[in-house]
Amino acid sequence: MRLNSIGLDWKCMIPTLAWTPEGVRFIDQTKLPLEESYVLATTYEQVADVIVTMVVRGAPAIGVSAAYGVALGALRTTASTPQEFAPEFERICARLAGTRPTAVNLFWAIDRMKKLFADLLARGTTLAQVKERLLSEAHAIYEEDIAACKTMGAFGGTLLPDEGGVLTHCNAGALATCGYGTALGVIRAAVEHGKKIRVYADETRPFLQGARLTAWELMEDGIDTTVICDNMAASLMRAGRIKAVVVGADRIAANGDFANKIGTYNVAILAKEHGIPFYVAAPWSTIDTATPTGDDIPIEERSPVEVTHHGGKQLTPNGVGICNPAFDVTPARYVTAIITERGVLRAPYTESIRTMEAIAV
Ligand code: MRU
Repeated sequence: MRLNSIGLDWKCMIPTLAWTPEGVRFIDQTKLPLEESYVLATTYEQVADVIVTMVVRGAPAIGVSAAYGVALGALRTTASTPQEFAPEFERICARLAGTRPTAVNLFWAIDRMKKLFADLLARGTTLAQVKERLLSEAHAIYEEDIAACKTMGAFGGTLLPDEGGVLTHCNAGALATCGYGTALGVIRAAVEHGKKIRVYADETRPFLQGARLTAWELMEDGIDTTVICDNMAASLMRAGRIKAVVVGADRIAANGDFANKIGTYNVAILAKEHGIPFYVAAPWSTIDTATPTGDDIPIEERSPVEVTHHGGKQLTPNGVGICNPAFDVTPARYVTAIITERGVLRAPYTESIRTMEAIAV
């Protein structure tokens, strides 16, 4: 039986990351699906490394990992007072914030830990209490993430067709969160409600999150899954084999434009051309109202080796030019609805995001 760090077990309890007495344990997503192995990070530097090397990836999972990284940094400090720890705390947060630039959940989680620390400092809390509170805040972020995914599933599952193909891109599943998933959570909920869905998973070149991770976790759950190469979606849509698209997001701007895995924009354009609904599922922590439009979202450029090589084998001629942006931006006009744990948002997104934010605060 697989248990997460709060002792829960349910169908699809993929152990993406879990707090242990020694540190944070991560399933190694670079090894899946061929090998289910784990990496233990016992320091905040190691947490930063597992984020950079994609042992853990996916916007919500990165945010939770960073929160645990901050807590680990506090637990390992040799400082004797919160005041003495304060400059080290800043360095810990800066190191974790420097890992990946696009997913806003990372910065959201670190900011939440920073606010808590500032509050504890102001209240004259002891260092022992600071350590305990930072760890319990990280646990809270972890638990809230699972709850948000379940709620998104409940809202979004009803939007999917009773039967037919649903396309997803990249991995926005249990492996990208603390369990259940955002886009894949919506699919899971629909399947749990008896909908007869066949998932088409784009392979998602170059890192193959779809072929390796989405396919693996849906197969673990017994969900009907077919992997397609990224260039096959148009043909399947034209043939009527895809009834809806659901993807995750790394950052949603104030106007509803959003960044997600490279290739998402292509899928959105194809969906519109074929009259297929295109849904985005993301927790509220992915919405960044401080970023006005998609043009303002920083896009991570990753190593050319991810494109030139696969499985240690060279695919391209020596010296050829390589471009490897990890994400693209899809304009809001392609989005049928944004599914969040607060509710389902519809266009115009500037208004619906602002309204929902005001209601929930
Ligand atoms: O580079 P990755 O694998 O971290 O990119 C992940 C994605 O683009 C996901 O779709 C996104 O983070 C949403 S995960 C719920």
